[in-house]
Amino acid sequence: QQNILQDSHGRDHAYLRISLIERCNLRCTYCMPEEGVKLSPKSHLMTYEEIYEIAKIFVDNGVTKIRLTGGEPLIRKDIPVILAMLSSLPVELSITSNAVIIDKFIDVLKVNGVNKINVSLDSLDALKFKHITRRQKFQKVYDNILLLVKEGFTVKVNAVLIKEFNDNEIIDFINFTKNLPISVRFIEFMPFDGNKWDMSKMVSYAEVMSCVNKAFSENKIERLQDAPNDTSKNYKIKGYEGSFAIISSVTNPFCDSCNRLRLTANGQLKNCLFSSTESDLLTSFRAGKPIEPIIQKAVKLKLKVRGGMNTLKKLQEPKFHNNNRSMITIGG
Ligand code: GTP
Ligand code: 5AD
Ligand code: SF4
Repeated sequence: QQNILQDSHGRDHAYLRISLIERCNLRCTYCMPEEGVKLSPKSHLMTYEEIYEIAKIFVDNGVTKIRLTGGEPLIRKDIPVILAMLSSLPVELSITSNAVIIDKFIDVLKVNGVNKINVSLDSLDALKFKHITRRQKFQKVYDNILLLVKEGFTVKVNAVLIKEFNDNEIIDFINFTKNLPISVRFIEFMPFDGNKWDMSKMVSYAEVMSCVNKAFSENKIERLQDAPNDTSKNYKIKGYEGSFAIISSVTNPFCDSCNRLRLTANGQLKNCLFSSTESDLLTSFRAGKPIEPIIQKAVKLKLKVRGGMNTLKKLQEPKFHNNNRSMITIGG
């Protein structure tokens, strides 16, 4: 059988990220503009049957890991059905959530074998949380992270760092891992359509490490082995229960080992987080046509680094990065 999920740079794509919904119960500034984004008409969104059938085609062709994203995946009304259907496939199923309402889904997640949860939390300060998310849900999210750990989930906390906003919280976040077995991942702020990105607001991998090196002596900082195809460079402070990591898409892209494809809520395949082109799977699927050839073509066309923005100079040019979607409709 032909490997339709291998690109022309020899990368195999075993990880599919499916965005379930374009809406969210928070309004993070780095993810969406204040006024919101233009939403797809409901009829253009994949139904749960379509999500399952399309995902199955990917699984039949080599996908072994599916991550559900959004917007906020848990606000989709049929999420229990989606989880049940996808969990019948031979994949590792996981979810990235803002955790605002995740306490209501503990059982449904467990029953369907979802045991790894990535939670977005950009500040440990309630006022800053409100500023960045434009909603006051800090306590809920914080309590839910503790609940997830207590319930035995493997939890990663994603924090997008922004200069002079939350970069003074790096050590607080690391100390959050002292008595809690979580991984806190600092993410370099990335440019997307409408998020007012500016390179000067980004906190780099090197800057995070310089801050860590000032706070902890060298023999306390341990570099961990990264998982294959990991998005992050992992570390821990010796003796701490948890660990921390950096996701350095801007200064140290990890595209060489990229194994990720993205399916948007309206059924478009993105071959890269930064791809400006998309391939319409849903229309063909609805017309009863085979979608494997479309997938194969899209994967073959995947560019080597960041959808073609291989240099920092290109990444900084709005004509490139504003040619994408807003993050809320990609799902990270
Ligand atoms: P694990 O499966 O736990 O490794 O999670 P993940 O890092 O794949 O996914 P998550 O949804 O937690 O994303 C964390 C951050 O990594 C987000 O900011 C994503 O945008 C970013 N990210 C995830 N996949 C990619 C990717 O393929 N390329 C780039 N540049 N960033 C990515
Ligand atoms: N830059 C970096 N990370 C981002 N995320 C959302 N928008 C951005 C951005 N502009 C992260 C969120 C979420 C993950 C899926 O993507 O923190 O946890
Ligand atoms: Fe993969 Fe594109 Fe992310 Fe690079 S930028 S790791 S190619 S999705």
